[in-house]
Amino acid sequence: MKYYFHIFGCQMNEADAEVLAGFLVSMGYSRAESESEADIILLITCCVREHAESRVYGKLGELARLKQLKPSLVVGISGCMPQQADVAESLRVKFPYLDLIFGTHNLPDFPRLLEEAQAHGGQVLEVVEEGEVRENLPRVRQIGLKAWVSIMYGCNNYCTYCIVPYVRGRERSRLPEAILAEIRELTEQGCLEVTLLGQNVNSYGRGLAPQLRVDFADLLAAVDKVPGMQRVRFMTSHPRDFSDKLIETVFNSSSVCEHFHLPVQSGSNQVLARMNRGYTRETYLELVHKLRAAIPHAAITTDIIVGFPGETEQDFSETLDLVREVAFDSVFAFAYSARSGTPAADFAPQLPKAEKSLRLKQLIDTANAIALVRNQKLADKVVEVLVEGPSKTNPDRLTGRTRTNKLVHLDSEPDLVGKLLDVRITRVQTFSMLGERTGVER
Ligand code: 5AD
Ligand code: SF4
Repeated sequence: MKYYFHIFGCQMNEADAEVLAGFLVSMGYSRAESESEADIILLITCCVREHAESRVYGKLGELARLKQLKPSLVVGISGCMPQQADVAESLRVKFPYLDLIFGTHNLPDFPRLLEEAQAHGGQVLEVVEEGEVRENLPRVRQIGLKAWVSIMYGCNNYCTYCIVPYVRGRERSRLPEAILAEIRELTEQGCLEVTLLGQNVNSYGRGLAPQLRVDFADLLAAVDKVPGMQRVRFMTSHPRDFSDKLIETVFNSSSVCEHFHLPVQSGSNQVLARMNRGYTRETYLELVHKLRAAIPHAAITTDIIVGFPGETEQDFSETLDLVREVAFDSVFAFAYSARSGTPAADFAPQLPKAEKSLRLKQLIDTANAIALVRNQKLADKVVEVLVEGPSKTNPDRLTGRTRTNKLVHLDSEPDLVGKLLDVRITRVQTFSMLGERTGVER
């Protein structure tokens, strides 16, 4: 018996897929190389923007044909889409061939739900409202040089555009011992880089027992001490909760990389307030100045939404100004996508699609020009690169990343994968750089 997954969206879904695979393997399944040889196909879905959902609906249409050809095939859908009760119900009605519909909080119940679907032959739909942190679920994980480790789940922020708090639940932090044990085990298996993952890592520890007295900076300092873990990254930081203690911790640690992903979302105070972000343009800029003063070579990246309801030309030009002022190393730019059930979906006026696309293009062009200038600062400099493997586009090259998370290509040489090298940057582009090793291995 074989399983095949379609995973959409973010690292949270990748982590959920590892648990679902863990259950399936413990039931005797193995991974199928393609859909056609699978006995069970699961879609692990995302609903953060409309585009992600459209891709899922496209796939659901295709799978209807496969199910017709092979009626014994079990098709299930999980992840963030069915966690919304109305969406789960409409999936059930619109896609009657679906055997199994369950939410993000139902993961521990998967074996029972699958058994029910197989036993009674009809549709099984179960979506529970909330879930606790569950340790020690089975898990199939491909351990390479890099790994993601969830340190917390959910989000309490309720930014007005965002569906995440509704589908991933309230914020829950994992216990520090569980996180540290997982990271130690990863190093024993050859992993050299870990990214600590949460919707808002800066509020890590808030719901834990007060006697633990642990915040994100404490956790980071403890992870920094795990022997063998060469690089530690973290995302996502909420600018409102970024403490001076955290800046100090990054400064004082050896493995924590000098890269801060700090989603600003907008450069206009008016828009930030209506997004419920809890900071202003001025306090964001102050944080950036503090970071740059403490760690001048740090990379700062961000997420920005254009075309939020009511965003004026003036608001948008304030965003472009802020992008120029901060000079981000990279910007993840999104056109606002109304998510039903979130407050902003009912805000007026909603901007026309064409206007959002125009602003998106302007933002991307501005951000790319700045990224190139930022990268040019590294021309002819020697930087530390962790070699990750062959380049996807050119087999004669290896690729790796700097501590600041910039992509570097090198001429291929044997036995370099997994090495930390000193590399001289010889050519700079917007999204990557070329380099040559200086001969020194760290
Ligand atoms: N529309 C567009 N972008 C969104 N994001 C979250 N919700 C929406 C939405 N409704 C973006 C934010 C967030 C990133 C992960 O996705 O910029 O930081
Ligand atoms: Fe969504 Fe805001 Fe939470 Fe990020 S912080 S997941 S944008 S609600």
